[in-house]
Amino acid sequence: EAVQKGGYAHFMLKEIHEQPQVAREVLHMLAGSTEVKRVLDAIRNARQVYFIGCGTSYHACLAGSVYFAQLAGRAVIPVLAPQFIPQYLPAVNKQDVGIFVSQSGETKDVLNALQAAEAQGMTCLGLANVIGSTLTKATACWLPLCCGYEISVPATKTFTNQVVTFLYLAYRLAGRDTRPLEDIPALMETTLNTAAPQIEAIVPAINPWNDLYCLGYGATYPMALEGALKLKEITYAHCEGMLSTEFKHGPLSAVTENYPVLFVTGPEDVPLIVSGINEVTCRGGRAIAIGQEDSRLRANASEVITLPEASPEISSLLSVLPLQLLAYHMSVGRGYDPDFPRNLSKTLTVD
Ligand code: AGP
Repeated sequence: EAVQKGGYAHFMLKEIHEQPQVAREVLHMLAGSTEVKRVLDAIRNARQVYFIGCGTSYHACLAGSVYFAQLAGRAVIPVLAPQFIPQYLPAVNKQDVGIFVSQSGETKDVLNALQAAEAQGMTCLGLANVIGSTLTKATACWLPLCCGYEISVPATKTFTNQVVTFLYLAYRLAGRDTRPLEDIPALMETTLNTAAPQIEAIVPAINPWNDLYCLGYGATYPMALEGALKLKEITYAHCEGMLSTEFKHGPLSAVTENYPVLFVTGPEDVPLIVSGINEVTCRGGRAIAIGQEDSRLRANASEVITLPEASPEISSLLSVLPLQLLAYHMSVGRGYDPDFPRNLSKTLTVD
């Protein structure tokens, strides 16, 4: 087992550190894939496109929908798989396309939505990590996530490769040069190296809290949801992910002295995020910003976890890495095994 973990204390930490390499692999695969053209043609010709998944895979769908709109001007509906049937099935037809996203390719909630969509004549495409899974067999065309085995129950590398794949597809749909995406692996390395000591330094102050918020906006909103899910999953604390602008519409009342609120920000959203930060700090709360180096964040946040310089869309992807590390170190600090959280299994094959 020690060998399998490659010297890391847990599979989760190993898989977090594998992200640069698997991102390189998926980008390489996408550049040479004939299936990418099929996926893009289907999207171009579709009346409506849906990205469908559960849990972490749903957060990737949400990130993908933000990139498609922001970069390619294409509106996509991200859907939690079980909600697809009651909310959207009555409205879909043969002109619509669904991309079903799943690490395992076996999640029952996703397969139920896929089966219903197929019966309605929708074009069903897939993004999956496990080749040979039911999802890959049941879709007309699918793209692999190229992550190898993901053993730890909390998904990390499969999430970032889902997001990288959506980002690549959005670039291609927009007719953009995809070469800037080749910087992602090195930027991930830098992020992991710089964030790790900063995260470890703040864990003792945050870990006594069993209740916290993780806020984002635009392309960092899905990352905030994903960070909150990771924290809940392996620390057993309650962490709510939310659009930063919604915090003042009610949850702000939770803030007391040192109450921790994480703010994930892209470079263009700093003024908006700073206003949210000030709402928290002026009530004595602890606002931890995750973003690129910025004097406005430094002047207003209690702490800043810095991300390397990158385009806004790549920056949002990078911002999830410190959140994964935070969840990991909080979990270990609490004496839990982050690889196998209680009550959960890696693949959910029940309704
Ligand atoms: C992620 O950390 C969770 N283990 C969980 O939310 C997971 O993403 C969800 O169950 C969906 O799984 P899938 O990607 O295999 O379909």
